[in-house]
Amino acid sequence: MRLSVMQAIPKETSVTRTRPAIYLDHSATTPLADEALAAMQPYFAEFYGNPSSIHWAGRRSRTGLDQARRTVAGILGAKPGEIVFTASGTESDNAALRGIALARRKQSGTNRIVVSPVEHAAIQRTAEDLRDNYGFELTLLPVDGDGLVAPADVAAALGENPAADVAVVSVLYANNEVGTIQPIAQIGAVCKAAGVPFHTDAVQAAGKLSLNVNALGVDSLSLSGHKFYGPKGAGILYLRQGTPYQPTITGGSQEGSRRAATENVPSIVGLAAALALADAERESEMDRLQLLRDRLIGGILENVEGIRLTGSPVQRLPSHASFVLEGLEAEGVLIGLDMAGIAASSGSACSNASQRPSHVLEAMGVSPADLYGGLRLTLGRSNTPEQMDFVVEQLARIVANIRRAG
Ligand SMILES: Cc1ncc(COP(=O)(O)O)c(C=O)c1O
Repeated sequence: MRLSVMQAIPKETSVTRTRPAIYLDHSATTPLADEALAAMQPYFAEFYGNPSSIHWAGRRSRTGLDQARRTVAGILGAKPGEIVFTASGTESDNAALRGIALARRKQSGTNRIVVSPVEHAAIQRTAEDLRDNYGFELTLLPVDGDGLVAPADVAAALGENPAADVAVVSVLYANNEVGTIQPIAQIGAVCKAAGVPFHTDAVQAAGKLSLNVNALGVDSLSLSGHKFYGPKGAGILYLRQGTPYQPTITGGSQEGSRRAATENVPSIVGLAAALALADAERESEMDRLQLLRDRLIGGILENVEGIRLTGSPVQRLPSHASFVLEGLEAEGVLIGLDMAGIAASSGSACSNASQRPSHVLEAMGVSPADLYGGLRLTLGRSNTPEQMDFVVEQLARIVANIRRAG
């Protein structure tokens, strides 16, 4: 007998319904804001035209697209023409690193890429691909025990004649695993003085830190809608006017010939609405979350056995708490937390099928015995002080049980 789709989906049991639902994985993704959903809705059916069409239907979509571009540009302190809409943070990172590296090599023969060792895989793997399959030389910057890059080390890595040697530098603004915030403006100044384009992956910074591209001194910057209460599958690439760039998706002349494909107008409109909202409430919400985060970190360090904070205690995202569980694998703890209704993560790929230890913790000098013990709790709009206290209590209980069981 075949089951209908509805029959095949397990019904919630009474146990799951009475459990609390505490979401502490906002760095993985965020729920869509009501305002973003409302902004998107007309563009699914009512305003369906292709924004490249010259007729009335196309013009209605074009209006939404143009407005979204102006909104995003305003928040970034950029010109609307410097904003390219993409389909993800990963795509924006790929486009920036590949697009700038290939164009620079063609223009000036530069053949070296300089990146930090604590990048998200979207930059890390792209840099490795450019090395392994496109003949670029790859230089990894040093980081300290908090995962911080020193601007002086960037200057040293650029070497004697960077304008003729280095194609692009990339350092992520805020780390997804440990929440460390890099000194982007100082690194930007070093790159500018050296005449080398500078990219930053700002995916985790949106809604939390200033995204002003001029204050940051970046030539390109990537963002992802679903990290700031916008839709999934929608990204932003900021590309400073005049930055050498070769498109990686070729075809039509959409997005100023920098990214071919008919634009995903509903998602772009929703992404812009979400970014505007996140930007408007950024300061007050970050003050609120920082208090919650400090309550959570303080409670955990005081009550949970064998745990320590990872990342910078000072230069860290107001919404981000990350730890290593000494000598433990995080997986059992994450399952225990989930059973208590708490959504958390290890922060790295080692919790999924890849089973690779965290390259971020490795680069920060965490000992091999602790590399699988990463625990990340990332806060957002739905979190309350009472939830923080409940999480501390549950985590202390779960870790004590696992340690007792050996
Ligand atoms: C720092 C960073 N960069 C890039 C990405 C990729 O973004 P997306 O999920 O939109 O591809 C993520 C997502 O986790 C991230 O945290």
